Amino acid sequence: MTPDLDEDHAERMQNGNTMLDSIYESFARWGYPHPIHPTEVHMPIGLVVGAFIFAWTAWLLRRPRLARTAYDCIVLAFIWLFPTVLFGVMDWLHYYAGAMPFPIKMKLILTPVLLILMAAAVFLGRGAGAESSVALVSYSLCFLVVVVLGYFGGELVYTAEEPSHSDEAQAGAELFSTNCASCHPQGRNIMNPDLPLRGSPHLADADRFIAFIRNPKLPDGSVGTMPAFPADRLSDREALELYRYIVQTIENSGRQ
Ligand code: HEC
Repeated sequence: MTPDLDEDHAERMQNGNTMLDSIYESFARWGYPHPIHPTEVHMPIGLVVGAFIFAWTAWLLRRPRLARTAYDCIVLAFIWLFPTVLFGVMDWLHYYAGAMPFPIKMKLILTPVLLILMAAAVFLGRGAGAESSVALVSYSLCFLVVVVLGYFGGELVYTAEEPSHSDEAQAGAELFSTNCASCHPQGRNIMNPDLPLRGSPHLADADRFIAFIRNPKLPDGSVGTMPAFPADRLSDREALELYRYIVQTIENSGRQ
């Protein structure tokens, strides 16, 4: 190994996500500052739903041409599953810092199940005719798992349990559910329950709050596990909206 590579390695050990961060920074520079997985996921979901519908129609009406269409859908879904999973893992590391709230645990368990089921479906559906109940069952199982995976994806994106809030707080609420709710549901802290968001001294005023999320620290001043939110991820205006939302809804609901 050359000294150069050694240095490189040491740097990466210090900050494990540098490479990942720079990938997301590039996307943001090209005008795409969002998670990637949610855009990719429509392809396998749509194609598996297609395979399911075509396979059932083929089976019920005995239409070999539709059985073929169902098979083509499942093959393309299987191919697209790989980038979808890859981006899912990348988003998880980047946006959730590898945290493991319940929906993510379920996704991590179900994804390998889906990979195996789809590989089986691609194998079993090959050359299968309209009457093949093996193909039908294997596509239907893929469909079931995709639906459950989609449900947990939805749980992550739309955290339904957040407290109710006024219309003005809507923007802040959205920022909260995209950026913070995964680790701080209802103002708690799933990664470090001793340091909840609700009642935190960093909520004393907006400046202190913004300074904290730009450069989160543990109470003793050392660096913890909360990801930083620099200005290209949350602008000052957004941070302020977020602050107002937290103080108005989460903080107040705790003091009742
Ligand atoms: C990946 C999980 C994660 C995400 C996402 C996250 N946090 Fe945190 N947060 C933590 C952890 C863990 C701590 C404890 C300090 C540490 O380890 O860095 C913390 C601490 C805090 C604290 C200080 C609590 C205290 O009194 O010490 C505040 C305030 C806070 N987070 C606000 C936010 C806001 C606002 C967002 C969204 C913009 C957010 N966090 C997103 C994990 C997260």
